[in-house]
Amino acid sequence: MRENALLKKALKNVAIAAGKAGHDPYRPGWHLSPAAGLLNDPNGFIQFDGRYHLFYQWNPLACAHGAKWWGHWSSDDLTHWQHEPVALLPGEVYDVNGCYSGSAVNDNGTLCLLYTGNVKLPGSRTAWQCLATVQPDGEVTKAGPVIGLPEGYTGHVRDPKVWRHGPYWYMVLGAQNLQEQGKVLLYRGETLRQWTLSGEIAGSHLNGLGEFGYMWECPDLFALDGQDVLLVCPQGLPAKEQSWLNTHQSGYFVGRLEYEHADFTHGDFHELDLGFEFYAPQTTLSDDGRRLLFGWVGVPDADEFYQPTAEYGWMHMMSCPRELHLVNGKIIQQPVKELQSLRGEHTRQQGCADDLAPLAITQAELVIASQGEWQAHLAGALTLTCTAQGLTLHRINCRTGEPETRYWSGQVNHLHIFCDHSIAEIFINHGETTMTSRYFPAAEQRIHWQGRGQLTVEHWQLESSMVV
Ligand code: FRU
Repeated sequence: MRENALLKKALKNVAIAAGKAGHDPYRPGWHLSPAAGLLNDPNGFIQFDGRYHLFYQWNPLACAHGAKWWGHWSSDDLTHWQHEPVALLPGEVYDVNGCYSGSAVNDNGTLCLLYTGNVKLPGSRTAWQCLATVQPDGEVTKAGPVIGLPEGYTGHVRDPKVWRHGPYWYMVLGAQNLQEQGKVLLYRGETLRQWTLSGEIAGSHLNGLGEFGYMWECPDLFALDGQDVLLVCPQGLPAKEQSWLNTHQSGYFVGRLEYEHADFTHGDFHELDLGFEFYAPQTTLSDDGRRLLFGWVGVPDADEFYQPTAEYGWMHMMSCPRELHLVNGKIIQQPVKELQSLRGEHTRQQGCADDLAPLAITQAELVIASQGEWQAHLAGALTLTCTAQGLTLHRINCRTGEPETRYWSGQVNHLHIFCDHSIAEIFINHGETTMTSRYFPAAEQRIHWQGRGQLTVEHWQLESSMVV
């Protein structure tokens, strides 16, 4: 009954947003965005029976956070996506305030979803880790909670990421202990219904870290090029000079997980993306052995509600899919090769930045070989400055109207930039760092060049990609 009422409201909202979409200059053409309402984390990213599935945190009822659903898309090639029936709606006693983030696994031929059931209580909250199975026709059956709140933690325990290692299932969870320290918990499962807590494997006041945030969200742990990587989003890290400038961070630790002893020895925390908007990434292993990632192009508790797309009835999008590698202890991110199938008309120009022609960037890919100092102005709304010290991104904050900047230090030789109406994803030096940001141009969508630096610029127009 409750589901029925929710679906009717969602349908109304989708219809309203559909009417506005045609004159929305900010709606992406080839990035995944919600039909209406607010999208956040990628969930349940998996290649199952050859086909990619990406679920997502979705509030189809409003441009606001709240009792989240799981939306669902699928694709053969990571590039052309189709809508699937909604996977999860809140409504059971154990997920009434939201089917929060989680992951998907293949359990002997059945596509299984593990997610957090968020339950608000007067003045507090609790969380259940829940199981659901997807039928071949896309219909999802909830199997209910498989893990309750562990002792010693607040109601902030969530975001199960599950994988298989040897004879067992493993799960990492983001958590907050009673001292309000962010942690990652490791569980081991004989089956997807029977789990035992192995212990804390990382967090504030663990493994040589001091105070390191009050909550860690969206952990993801996987082997990459011979080591183990923990992606995680710590909340409550104070900004330090040119780092950790977003309200919450998305980053990673490289180390080695001793499965037997639930011990993860790791090195320093590195930010995964240095742009204005990037959070809650999730990875999967493709059939051909690639570690692939989607991130949410947004940051919670920041200025998101001042973004102008809310007027058009929708908010936020996914990053493009990226392939990960580990080189010298650092994650390298590359756009997946499949994106090349979106390439249309191509041009190439070379010379001093001041002499280069402006280029259309509404939907575009740019590959730039760079020498010296120069600037690029993206549709008058985002400025990229390349100096001997590194690269900065500059824009006007849509809440305060004040300028704001993000920084990468190092020598820029090569840039790979993807633009799509109101997003730029910048891959520096073949993925040594990425900077992902939204921007909301008031005028024509072109990139203008400035400065004495020498550039070779390749440019492609990109096709739209949503299958409708
Ligand atoms: C991260 C997050 C998760 C939670 C979800 C709720 O953005 O806060 O921790 O499961 O979003 O939508």
